[in-house]
Amino acid sequence: MTDATRRNFLRYVGMVGGAGVMYQTMAAMGLAPDPAAPAFAAPRADDLQGKGKSVVILGGGIAGLTTAYELGKAGYKVTILEARMRPGGRNWTVRGGTEETDLRGITQRATFSKDQYMNAGPGRIPQHHITLDYCKELGVAIEPFTNQNADGYLFREGSSKLSNTPIRHRAAKADVYGYVSELLAKATDQGALDSYMSAADKENLISFLKSFGAIGNKVPGDAAASFKYTGTGRKGYSVAPGAGLEAGTPLAPDALSDVFASGVGNYFSFEFGWDQAMMMFQPVGGMDRIPYAFESAIGKDKFVYGAQVLSMNNTAAGVSVEYTNPGGQAKLIEADFAVCTLPPHIAAKVPGNLPADVIDALKFASPSDAGKIGIEYSRRWWEEDHRIYGGITNTNIDLGNMWYPSTGFHGQRGTMVGYYNTGASARVYKELSPEKRLGRALDQGARIHGDVYRKDVAASFSVDWGSTAFSEGAWVGWSSQTDAKYARLLEPSGNIYFAGDHLSHAIAWQHGAMTSARAAVTALHTRAAAMVAG
Ligand code: FAD
Ligand code: ALA
Repeated sequence: MTDATRRNFLRYVGMVGGAGVMYQTMAAMGLAPDPAAPAFAAPRADDLQGKGKSVVILGGGIAGLTTAYELGKAGYKVTILEARMRPGGRNWTVRGGTEETDLRGITQRATFSKDQYMNAGPGRIPQHHITLDYCKELGVAIEPFTNQNADGYLFREGSSKLSNTPIRHRAAKADVYGYVSELLAKATDQGALDSYMSAADKENLISFLKSFGAIGNKVPGDAAASFKYTGTGRKGYSVAPGAGLEAGTPLAPDALSDVFASGVGNYFSFEFGWDQAMMMFQPVGGMDRIPYAFESAIGKDKFVYGAQVLSMNNTAAGVSVEYTNPGGQAKLIEADFAVCTLPPHIAAKVPGNLPADVIDALKFASPSDAGKIGIEYSRRWWEEDHRIYGGITNTNIDLGNMWYPSTGFHGQRGTMVGYYNTGASARVYKELSPEKRLGRALDQGARIHGDVYRKDVAASFSVDWGSTAFSEGAWVGWSSQTDAKYARLLEPSGNIYFAGDHLSHAIAWQHGAMTSARAAVTALHTRAAAMVAG
């Protein structure tokens, strides 16, 4: 088979059988790509034999944009109805001049300096997400996002000896890995694991632990002294290694029981996550470079901004959707199909003739809370005073995580994410005015960074996603994704298809919105092509 024949054959398999079948076929042909990015064949105009269909897309977030962009490749006539005055939905970058009134009626106007911004929603992209493929296809420049930094802090409020004080990730790791290695090496050597391991396994494990934990050797006849963790420069130095005879003074280990009582080790697994491991990326200049690139590829004329969907109905001929235009007048649009990408808890409230089981399924999703504050400083004190260049400080207080900027190193100004919290912590800030949120964030942040944290603040902007119009939550959870209710939304209801990150196993990721949109596009196009073929 030539390359071109193989591509056509796979496209056909993809159209008829969907991405899953196509992937299996590719695997059988020895062509399987990275399983993280399932194969997708964009619809082609040829499949419609010039009989283009019209599709109205409800919502111009990442799912709606992906849908419009991919359908546009085959010449569908698409119209995107978006309630906000911009593309992107939850993909939202706040810059100087951004104004937003929340559902409580509180208006904030950002006064960030030129080139300073805060990604209020998505901030990071893992290597395997198709979000990066779209960045490449749309010409959105990317740069590394520092998701982990050995010199960022861990801060644990509590009553142990190491509580209430910032500890560098590297220091916490040195002690936790060191003690875990010492204990496991001792137990292994003393025969505690003999029923699970051969002599060779034991030897190999101890060899690994020596490297992993920087522990000492076995001391024959002295179990207590064997495999001791006594600290190394991995933890950091009280006097740094320097010129000439200055070998440096490594920080001493903290006591084993203090280290485990502090709970500092409980955060390490974050960076092992499938979606959180470095390398991670961000678009240069703000995450909203992605929706704006989609907008220009799709064509601005296809968008109606300020268009709040009032009703959606299946009709004998296709669909009809009512919406208000920016002037507040009610408008009606009719099309062959609709793709509804509204958050499910919002879609459930839109009147129309969707059957009860579909409404029930939409209501089955529960929205989650999350909040962020961007704080612009006129001095990059985290670099100058703390020598932290990007990355995250993780806390167990209501700040959740704090992000140092991954860009603009050695510049004059920088914008930190002063808190990125979820659940109960987000709800603490949700209740406060923007000024009080900043006040609390500064007080809490000063516990970690000292008084410098309150100085040189140039601007701030806070977002609570639960009280953000047209989102009413940060993302949703399902009590089950194998339930028939969830599955109901994977099928169209008449001529109305559903898409969004909520219909994926990458919820709270743009990748989820994009893969879900691709699935809806494949299903819709397969049907439209079959209709055309007669
Ligand atoms: P949405 O963006 O919610 O799109 C729905 C659209 O419908 C919106 O544009 C909305 O305005 C519109 N709408 C709502 N009601 C109406 C109506 N009545 N009429 C017309 N239009 C309406 N993803 C990552 O990849 N990386 C991250 O680091 C990351 N972090 C995140 C952090 C936070 C705090 C949040 C909130 C999200 C984060 N995400 C992240 C997730 C990412 O933002 C989403 O997965 C993705 O943007 C969802 O796209 P969507 O199109 O499915 O939904
Ligand atoms: N995917 C979101 C994040 O990484 C929740 O912050």
